[in-house]
Amino acid sequence: MKLQLTSVLILTPSVLAQVASGPPSGEHYSPIPLNTLSENSTSVNAVPYQANASLYYLGYKGDDWTRPFSKYWNPLMKPITDEVQKGMTESPYASRLAYTPQEAAGYLTRSGNSHEYGQWHVEKSTMSWRSADRTLVTGEMYDWWFGWHLADPQRYKLWHPVAHQYAWRYPNVADWGNKTLPQRYIGSHSFINEFIGNFASKLTVNFVEPESIGFNTSAFASQGIEAMVVGHITNEHVTNVTGNSYLMHQIRRKDDGSRELRSRFFLEQFTEDQGHQLGVHCALEMSHLATFLPKLYAEFKDTV
Ligand SMILES: *[C@@H]1O[C@H](CO)[C@@H](O)[C@H](O)[C@H]1NC(C)=O
Ligand SMILES: *[C@@H]1O[C@H](CO)[C@@H](O)[C@H](O)[C@H]1NC(C)=O
Ligand SMILES: *[C@@H]1O[C@H](CO)[C@@H](O)[C@H](O)[C@H]1NC(C)=O
Ligand SMILES: *[C@@H]1O[C@H](CO)[C@@H](O)[C@H](O)[C@H]1NC(C)=O
Ligand SMILES: *[C@@H]1O[C@H](CO)[C@@H](O)[C@H](O)[C@H]1NC(C)=O
Repeated sequence: MKLQLTSVLILTPSVLAQVASGPPSGEHYSPIPLNTLSENSTSVNAVPYQANASLYYLGYKGDDWTRPFSKYWNPLMKPITDEVQKGMTESPYASRLAYTPQEAAGYLTRSGNSHEYGQWHVEKSTMSWRSADRTLVTGEMYDWWFGWHLADPQRYKLWHPVAHQYAWRYPNVADWGNKTLPQRYIGSHSFINEFIGNFASKLTVNFVEPESIGFNTSAFASQGIEAMVVGHITNEHVTNVTGNSYLMHQIRRKDDGSRELRSRFFLEQFTEDQGHQLGVHCALEMSHLATFLPKLYAEFKDTV
């Protein structure tokens, strides 16, 4: 994510109106199911790649409403929690508390020793942002979501209905036959376009093996870690992601049996207000995802 955001779109009143409008009456749900895994395990992008960012749009329109999962698209998102708001007001924290993506495994395999809601640090050229929240989402649901949403902009838009504009997966075709849930997304590149605050940009998330950055997956069961999503990120849509910017999302079971969702972002290039904007964005999308993912998963888990 670079300082210079190349494609800047301004949220116009007409876009806001489009996002706020509900589905056309009676056309919001198609009973036509998607391919099930047992019929055909080939995952293909819903539509061909579109490079022209002027054609990306927020919300659903036209035939989007016939997607079988469109009833889960809900732009009425809950506000950020008091904890996240406080963490962001307190930030930035001392840079000495920051750590690198390569050091993250040591921190993310332990419980946080203090609250970690919405905090961010700036250390040299890296901004790290951290958050944790209680969640009803299980590791299985979360890993499934990261495979399933990549290949369709309308799936990706469910997650953050007023900020996510576009998603396309490279490679275009992937065989999910006999793949574990993490294997459905690790190695792929997610070409996305989303608003962070008032700026939209093209980003690539290249999902990598957690081991590649120091996690020991064999120890996850004993550490209560149910899902560990690691993405190597950069701006623009590229298949050769370089640099040291990462995102990490974790579902961890705590001693009391409840689950927490922890997120970290490590950005090499950032603007002064990006900690705040990324914090709001991540807090909104993660708590929103938790409102519908258990039901979406129950209904669509066997589809490609
Ligand atoms: C499986 O689905 C893919 C993608 O939709 C399609 O290209 C392929 O022809 C299908 N295979 C069979 C055997 O139906
Ligand atoms: C991108 O789409 C816009 C809107 O339709 C169009 O005006 C523009 O010419 C397109 N740009 C390219 C490079 O195709
Ligand atoms: C999955 O593995 C089983 C057993 O090895 C095999 O019979 C089946 O063809 C595989 N399915 C796919 C889609 O690769
Ligand atoms: C990874 O975790 C397993 C299970 O706890 C342990 O046996 C193994 O020694 C660990 N590997 C490393 C490199 O720490
Ligand atoms: C990576 O991709 C970018 C954009 O397509 C290109 O400019 C650059 O040369 C590529 N780098 C390598 C090492 O292939």
